[in-house]
Amino acid sequence: MKIRQLFDYDTWTYTYLLWDEETMEAAVIDSVIEQVDRDMQHIEELGLKVKYLLETHIHADHITGAGPLRKKTAAEIVVHKNSGSECADILAEEGDTFKIGSQTITVMHTPGHTNNDITYRIDGAVFTGDTLLVRDCGRTDFQLGSNEDMYHSLTQRLFTLPEDTMVFPAHDYKGFTQSTIGEEKSFNVRAGSGKSFEDFSTIMDNLNLPNPKRIDISVPGNLKCGNLDD
Ligand code: FE2
Repeated sequence: MKIRQLFDYDTWTYTYLLWDEETMEAAVIDSVIEQVDRDMQHIEELGLKVKYLLETHIHADHITGAGPLRKKTAAEIVVHKNSGSECADILAEEGDTFKIGSQTITVMHTPGHTNNDITYRIDGAVFTGDTLLVRDCGRTDFQLGSNEDMYHSLTQRLFTLPEDTMVFPAHDYKGFTQSTIGEEKSFNVRAGSGKSFEDFSTIMDNLNLPNPKRIDISVPGNLKCGNLDD
């Protein structure tokens, strides 16, 4: 499995291309609407046959490029069923699998940032959306987020994976690009090194973050898969 990490400067978002080298079947995780031309150029140059456009959740900080990419590639859009998305082709849930070539992508429902977070797991790697970030985790104070769910997703689901599993987040604000489960178990500032739920909750309840600037247009735009004219 090949993994390519792409970055959107304006929203600090990572988009990932995954592909199977034998068949060139591919998936795109968390595209950004302003970067559709960049992504299509890469897809065409590399000769990828995109089968799936995978969303880790309904984003509040940017609009997905999945709808425009579907028009260009005929791939299927995957979003968690809790999103209530009416534009997705597949409403996924825990344990669902998707094949690209001989590779299997497995859905883990890891809520906490929202109620519809998916971690996509492939052999040796997880794409953790806004659930697990490098040394950090997503906020829990809107979009049906929950400290309880986040703590459970981090400590009982993700931190129980093999320690050498590579971690690829949906965002980074400090220049980090990836991590491992073992590193995050030890060094994650919010939930690592055996932090109790009470400690975690105190941190999360005192972040005092402003709402994302684009939340009012991003959430409705994402519920239309980024097809803003439809
Ligand atoms: Fe998010």
